[in-house]
Amino acid sequence: MIRKAVFPAAGFGTRFLPATKASPKEMLPLVDMPLIQHGVEEAKAAGMRDMIIVTGRGKNAIEDHFDVSFELEAMLSKKGDSALLSSVRRVTDGADFFYVRQNLPLGLGHAVLRSMDLVGQEPFAVVLSDDVIDARVPVLKQMIRAYEKYSAGAVLAIQRVPKEAVSRYGILRGKRIANGVYDVEDMVEKPKPADAPSDLAIIGRYLLPPSIFPALMATKPGAGGEIQLTDAIRALIGTERVIGLEFQGVRYDAGTKLGFQMANIAFALKDPEIGPGLRAFLKKEKLT
Ligand code: G1P
Repeated sequence: MIRKAVFPAAGFGTRFLPATKASPKEMLPLVDMPLIQHGVEEAKAAGMRDMIIVTGRGKNAIEDHFDVSFELEAMLSKKGDSALLSSVRRVTDGADFFYVRQNLPLGLGHAVLRSMDLVGQEPFAVVLSDDVIDARVPVLKQMIRAYEKYSAGAVLAIQRVPKEAVSRYGILRGKRIANGVYDVEDMVEKPKPADAPSDLAIIGRYLLPPSIFPALMATKPGAGGEIQLTDAIRALIGTERVIGLEFQGVRYDAGTKLGFQMANIAFALKDPEIGPGLRAFLKKEKLT
């Protein structure tokens, strides 16, 4: 049973400035739901209950979002607006939220290490809410199936990326053991295209064993001078079985302006309320 999910959310969101000057990038909406809530809903759909959010300065809106707003609920219930009321209740239902601060910008590995006491001695998930994945079966659920089927210690979501993009990702080398499933043999964070061992990139979903924490503590700063999660997972290979899973679904890199807009358009077009209107507008104004 994987019950806990860790959400690193302490970054400055510099790519979205000035929009993120005073509000967290994790709160940028995809249609009507903040990015981080998409990740939380995915974790809930995969059976997880405890959401551990690693925050920093200026991130209070995240805590307020995942808290019950008694006044808002009372107002909506008085108005009899049951649709909006249930969308607001959904934010807090079915999960408990825990917060820990990452008060130094030392990288993704350091952010995950900050969750050590809240995670304890059990396997857990890491969700990077920048990576939005639209999937029929939630990606974390697909990963849990692989975790069980292959008795894995860790499962990484992976996707093939163009050669020129490898330097933005953790890239792995692995032995293919089934369609879309790899036994990971090595991995490297943000390699130059010439040094990349493959085109298989890690996407922001991980299932990890608690042994990642001592590995993180022993990890020296790597790419970009940061403590890299990739380096710590690499140190587990040999003692833990690390599986790479090419997931089914469409992934949007909502950490970039282009990917964020693509995700918004795709989600808006699928939205029953505004999809038809948006499609008609794009056609009328010849925007497609
Ligand atoms: C992080 C990880 C990287 C992974 C990527 C997925 O990088 O370090 O291994 O491929 O997320 O989005 P970041 O995007 O934080 O630079």
